[in-house]
Amino acid sequence: MQTQPILLAPKERLAARDEPLLTIQGLSAFYGNLQVLKDINLEVQGGQCLAIVGESGSGKSTLSRCLVGLHHNWGGQIRLSGTSVAPSSSRRDSDQRRRIQYVFQNPYGSLNPRQTVGASIAVAVEHFSGGRREQVNARVRAALERVSLPSHYANRYPNELSGGEKQRVVAIARGLVCSPDILVCDEVTSALDVSVQAAIVELLRSLMDDGLGIVFVTHNLAVVRSLSDRVAVLDAGLIVEAGETGTVMDCPTAAYTKHLMAHTLEMKP
Ligand SMILES: Nc1ncnc2c1ncn2[C@@H]1O[C@H](COP(=O)(O)OP(=O)(O)OP(=O)(O)O)[C@@H](O)[C@H]1O
Ligand SMILES: [Mg+2]
Repeated sequence: MQTQPILLAPKERLAARDEPLLTIQGLSAFYGNLQVLKDINLEVQGGQCLAIVGESGSGKSTLSRCLVGLHHNWGGQIRLSGTSVAPSSSRRDSDQRRRIQYVFQNPYGSLNPRQTVGASIAVAVEHFSGGRREQVNARVRAALERVSLPSHYANRYPNELSGGEKQRVVAIARGLVCSPDILVCDEVTSALDVSVQAAIVELLRSLMDDGLGIVFVTHNLAVVRSLSDRVAVLDAGLIVEAGETGTVMDCPTAAYTKHLMAHTLEMKP
């Protein structure tokens, strides 16, 4: 039986599109009357990674949640390949929902301990394809293999996986199973040790080679350097600096970016 490829069009095809894969224009977000994001303007191309960095409370997760339609109280525009999407995922069409997937900040809470890994990944693909059982199972196996886990892991329960394996399962296989264009990763490496972080970075890089666009939210500036093409620095809901990763990290101009970089250096052993 033939299964659809787990990833999308090759990088060249995505790069040839006129419009960026994802465009964020004049986005402002609120909790009640409290404004937590102010006039955010960003773009992500297929095959590229945009890192969003900033201290705790700067608005990174709120921005991620706006992108995937989980936070509704925002104004401005989010466009997918040039087409504006509704604030709430429930008002986006199923293809728009499929195209942009979110890997949650805390993967441990988002896996049901009583459900096998396979069942947990299958939920996403059933939702989007309504496919037959064998097709769903084939896609689950392909997604596991894409994140370098043996397909028989589908039969395991979450407590039978290591922290890094759980992250790959929930995080990445579940996000990939419905062939998104954009993966929004919220602190996916933060709770993991350095070697697992490196494996996840390598995996994300290979997915980018296949054309996936990534929005990578993190505190970890070392990961930013090894993964992202561009970086945007968020301070209290405002982008204070954005540009190519090497330029921003080697020659930061905003005082806040310099402060973040200095703080990272202090944290080094
Ligand atoms: N449900 C909520 N109600 C009110 N304010 C909220 C809510 N969720 C977040 N906030 C506030 O919005 C701001 C941005 O929060 P957000 O979770 O986006 O930050 P973050 O950059 O992801 O932080 P962290 O690095 O700690 O995850 C913070 O000031 C936070 O207190
Ligand atoms: Mg957060």
